[in-house]
Amino acid sequence: MRVQFTTTILVIAFITIMGAQALGQDALSVQNGAYTEKQAARGMKVYEKTCLVCHPIEEYVGIFLDGWAGVTALTLVDSIAETMPLDSPGGLKDQEFYDMVAYIFQANGLPPGETKMDGKTAEQILIEGPFGEARGDSESQEGAKPQ
Ligand code: HEC
Repeated sequence: MRVQFTTTILVIAFITIMGAQALGQDALSVQNGAYTEKQAARGMKVYEKTCLVCHPIEEYVGIFLDGWAGVTALTLVDSIAETMPLDSPGGLKDQEFYDMVAYIFQANGLPPGETKMDGKTAEQILIEGPFGEARGDSESQEGAKPQ
């Protein structure tokens, strides 16, 4: 009886883990459309209103994102939300932070997609290079699509 019970628990645990892994296979990357163009446009407005006064967007292009490679977008959003804006940390709506980071991704030449970045998707979105304006430069981009 007891053995059977334990086996049942193990089987359930196994199925749960496999299910989680199957979900993980859909994991997004900033390289394959992790935000929408619309939200980046909204993020730009928020950025210009609340951040630009202290940080030109150039600060967050290239080397900045390199420093975040290997973690998820959620980690970056959380880190910004914890400390910024300087005069009222976290003093924006959650979605505004996601939109703003979408704008930062866009400024780094990362492509928009169909799915909005939010509290649900951000933890699956892996930050990985290459970053930087060079990506928008069609000569240096293999497989570049005509705009
Ligand atoms: C009043 C000025 C001010 C405002 C407004 C402000 N910041 Fe900052 N921010 C700073 C200072 C000062 C630091 C400390 C690190 C530094 O010296 O760059 C910092 C650090 C950061 C960092 C850590 C990495 C880095 O650049 O060193 C990020 C990311 C950041 N800010 C993003 C933002 C975002 C996004 C906003 C808008 C929501 C914002 N900040 C608004 C002044 C500001």
